[in-house]
Amino acid sequence: PLTTTGELIAEARQKRTAVAAFNVITLEHAEAIAAGAERAGAPAILQISENAVKFHGGSLTAVAAAARAVAETSRAPLSLHLDHVVSADLFRRAHAEGFSSVMFDASKLTYGENVKATAQAVRWGHERGLWVEAELGKVGGKEGEPPLDAHAPGVRTDPAEARAYVESTGVDALAVAVGSSHAMTERTAALDHELITRLATAVPVPLVLHGSSGVPDKEIRAAVRAGMRKINVGTALNTAFTGAVRAFLEAHPSAVDPRKYLVPAREAMAGTVAHFLRQLEG
Ligand code: G3H
Ligand code: ZN
Repeated sequence: PLTTTGELIAEARQKRTAVAAFNVITLEHAEAIAAGAERAGAPAILQISENAVKFHGGSLTAVAAAARAVAETSRAPLSLHLDHVVSADLFRRAHAEGFSSVMFDASKLTYGENVKATAQAVRWGHERGLWVEAELGKVGGKEGEPPLDAHAPGVRTDPAEARAYVESTGVDALAVAVGSSHAMTERTAALDHELITRLATAVPVPLVLHGSSGVPDKEIRAAVRAGMRKINVGTALNTAFTGAVRAFLEAHPSAVDPRKYLVPAREAMAGTVAHFLRQLEG
């Protein structure tokens, strides 16, 4: 059934575990996330990024309706989240399109501008019952960005600044930079667990780990123990999807029906989803 991100995160906080949020690009992604969640017997968040909206011609309506229909008919509790929203226009459409939560991404702005823009977005969102996530510090590797050296100064979130940021913006959750990076195709990221513990103590709202595709299972489990409450996974699904399509087409060079390769692609993504969800069982 369709649920809200706020409810899923509240439950995870109580159980000292985390909810995994998976990025939806195509209908098959949404179906695979539902199948993986049912298999693992766990809830999940279907998240659609601003980049995915651009891929669908700039229109949120069709992809949101598809994800919503998948959530409503699933046996697993699934919520809808709009991810990495830079555009204020898109942010304002979230509520009307049926999303219960949004990540407003002002992380490219200076600290002062980020606080101002985010506080404004949070006020607007809270009036409409939206759960709002924001980011402080730079989780590198987003589309069009050069990969960041995760150990370079300024790339980690400072706990005192994070606390002040949450107080001044009123956000419901905070994405922090603790050593992960977006779009990794190998699971080799090393997280700063001591920093996660310090952040979890300093910040009164749930912490969010972005770029979890590149984080090894063991590191994800440790991050959850240290206080991460939302684990964002995107690229790992695409690695599974594309790997399955490539293998099928190499073995069947004359195939033309997309269902022939989308079936193994969807199955590979469902397996990946279930695998990540099992790391959060505690
Ligand atoms: O917001 C989305 C996530 O941070 C996904 O990152 O594609 O590196 O797993 P990823
Ligand atoms: Zn992200």
